[in-house]
Amino acid sequence: MSDTTTTIEQPSAEVSGRPIRLDDVTKRYPGQTKPAVDGITLEIPAGKVVMFVGPSGCGKTTTLKMINRLIEPTNGRIVLGDEDVTQIDGDELRRRIGYVIQAGGLFPHMTVATNIGLVPKMLGWSKERIAARVDELLELVSLDPDTYRDRYPRELSGGQQQRVGVARALAADPPVLLMDEPFGAVDPITRQRLQDELIRIQEEVQKTMVIVTHDFDEAVKLGDWIVVFEEGARIVQYDTPERILAEPANEFVENFIGSGAGLKQLTLRRVRDVDVADAVVVKPGTTGKDALQQAENAGHGHVVVVDDRERPLQWLSRRQLSRIDVIDARLDPALPVVSGAATLNDALDTMLVTSVGAALVTGRRERFEGVIDVETVMEAIRDARANAANSEGAPVGMNSGSIGLTPSLIAAGEAAQAAHAGDEAATATATDDARADHTERGAAG
Ligand SMILES: Nc1ncnc2c1ncn2[C@@H]1O[C@H](COP(=O)(O)OP(=O)(O)OP(=O)(O)O)[C@@H](O)[C@H]1O
Ligand SMILES: [Mg+2]
Repeated sequence: MSDTTTTIEQPSAEVSGRPIRLDDVTKRYPGQTKPAVDGITLEIPAGKVVMFVGPSGCGKTTTLKMINRLIEPTNGRIVLGDEDVTQIDGDELRRRIGYVIQAGGLFPHMTVATNIGLVPKMLGWSKERIAARVDELLELVSLDPDTYRDRYPRELSGGQQQRVGVARALAADPPVLLMDEPFGAVDPITRQRLQDELIRIQEEVQKTMVIVTHDFDEAVKLGDWIVVFEEGARIVQYDTPERILAEPANEFVENFIGSGAGLKQLTLRRVRDVDVADAVVVKPGTTGKDALQQAENAGHGHVVVVDDRERPLQWLSRRQLSRIDVIDARLDPALPVVSGAATLNDALDTMLVTSVGAALVTGRRERFEGVIDVETVMEAIRDARANAANSEGAPVGMNSGSIGLTPSLIAAGEAAQAAHAGDEAATATATDDARADHTERGAAG
């Protein structure tokens, strides 16, 4: 039964996430004829982001909630790292798995700091350690600690609540983060920002993340892997975004992707992956005449004004410069800025909205890095068409059979079961025997 090769890579040193395996997991709700989740076997690689997509009612939330056992599976095993967690205490398990729901799911009567510090408090951390962690996390999700730590959720915007929700889920540094439509309730621009932020955070923390979404573009943008489900959490395709776009498994997936697969390829590439152009950069206080001279010398039509920390303030044409005496430190609210983590699709949106045909690119700490224009994006579309990645090494995902548990896992499972007394242990063992049969058949077939 351990014949089936698993393809999960060994996590590298920086990866703090751990792999998750669902092994032949089924959920039957009482009174329902069909199972909500039908014998799913799924590998979720360590430190990767796996997106769940599929039509309403197909079992995404049920599958997600079985991972932290907010919903108990009817059958099957859940393995976190190399530990079978199907039998361990559910509350204990949930302290090791961050969970984010729509609108953050914050407790309204608690401050931001108290909300974020909940799990650390349960774990018995000292007050000082919790306070330091709260501030660190607020910084991580781009909320100023002094401004926000003592506010109540109702005093925050939807996007800010969502950020606090992410901070809370990360509080005790769990290896796994589960999110159920985390950005479903915010406006498109805030959603784009939160997505970019999540990408940046993930680069830092390298958790194993499972995210449910209704938005296929979001799945393509955030996912290392995407699972497309149909009813009963049956896996239709489990592959990279590139492959799903280039080679949808069937008509169901094709319909799900929707129109414009070519344009969606743009969602796969980030601004920082393409070459940005240099610009003439000046500081406030420079005379218009000087700036104009610099632009002329460089053969550029514009100059970028940045503040002391290199963050862009204004983007002035030669014409504007010719009318300016001394450049001030004003921030132009309509400045077309995209972060390096933004997708080319987002960059294109920004360019089109501002009708400049180009945008300023910022990197870490919002520092100015260069200019991206429409031609660069067009080139990237042509590239993307030319090379769709191949899916070798895709993790296991199926609704028949089992991935096979390694001896150490079986030992762990048995130890866990031994801890259960009387009838419960007997039931678990009986279920196990049934599963062993099933597995043999799965492997034979
Ligand atoms: N507590 C419950 N009792 C009975 N049936 C349930 C229960 N929760 C969910 N179901 C059913 O199980 C199926 C899967 O539900 P689930 O919430 O997992 O779907 P979903 O894919 O998350 O849908 P959505 O995209 O609408 O959130 C649905 O048919 C649903 O009606
Ligand atoms: Mg759901």
